[in-house]
Amino acid sequence: MGRKPVLLITRRMPPLVHERARRDYDTRLNLDDTLYDSTGLVKAAAGAEALLICPSDKITPELVEQLPASLKIIACFTAGYDHVNVEAVRRRGLTLTNAPDRLTDSTADIALLLMLGAARRAGEGEALMRQKGGWSGWHTLFMAGHDMHGKRLGIVGMGRIGRAVAKRARAFDMTIHYHNRTRLAPEHEAGAIFHSIVESLLPVADFLSLNCPLTPETRGLLNAERIAQLPDGAIVVNTARGDVVDDAALIAALKSGKLAAAGLDVYAGEPNQINPVYPTLLNTFLLPHLGSATLETRTGMGMNALDNLDAFFAGKTPPNLVV
Ligand code: 8YV
Repeated sequence: MGRKPVLLITRRMPPLVHERARRDYDTRLNLDDTLYDSTGLVKAAAGAEALLICPSDKITPELVEQLPASLKIIACFTAGYDHVNVEAVRRRGLTLTNAPDRLTDSTADIALLLMLGAARRAGEGEALMRQKGGWSGWHTLFMAGHDMHGKRLGIVGMGRIGRAVAKRARAFDMTIHYHNRTRLAPEHEAGAIFHSIVESLLPVADFLSLNCPLTPETRGLLNAERIAQLPDGAIVVNTARGDVVDDAALIAALKSGKLAAAGLDVYAGEPNQINPVYPTLLNTFLLPHLGSATLETRTGMGMNALDNLDAFFAGKTPPNLVV
């Protein structure tokens, strides 16, 4: 048997991922799950031919220059690779892969949870039940939220996750509208109504679900101007990236009542520098980036990253090649 490639896995992985990595690679694990800063990462990567990284590893151009000469490939554990400076990786001639194949359904599940949680005031209700004497009685408008069934859902970004959100929303008798860079084939559209510009989608979105990647084009996409074009009382959910939203504009609309509610799983500055106003608003339903957080999915994501490494070291094109 040939020599196994040296692989550094920067964060602790689910057990089956460790098992497979150890079998097939000369693997360095981070069993303590230490958070590496750039100096720590460079040190840990000495001699590595491959890195399996997580979003907590910020791969800046400066860091890319310091990574060891032995390095050939960086495999992301996640679908999103906005924590990696792709241009710097390309310049150094390294290969970069992401792992979008296994998290579609669990992320779409969380989008539906956010929609229902925000519309039906689930966070408020849950908090009430945990308060001694919090639930004091019934009246006709007690915790009255908004229906989700029968409403119009606007999806920004109709990739795999957007389509999985649409599929679930159809079971709630929602009418699906979407905006995507390109129109989908009819079998993927499945009756959803295409909007070539986001501006025409907004006025028909009683619920707006953000499912696009964070790119220079989508940064700050949901700004004050665009929020103003949503129907009054619309509900916004975000399982994409926090930076797709202008926080100040979203908060102003939640405070003024322009928007009925927002369900958020992702935040600009997460995890430690999220806008402190969100948790103070009763009409927000907030989760700590749980989109892909199931044991099955996180294991699958690790396997997806290893599939990419295996293909690369077998001399093939990795299935999820970024550069
Ligand atoms: C991760 C994700 O859990 O894959 C992605 O892009 O958003 C999630 O699966 C997240 O990146 C952790 O911060």
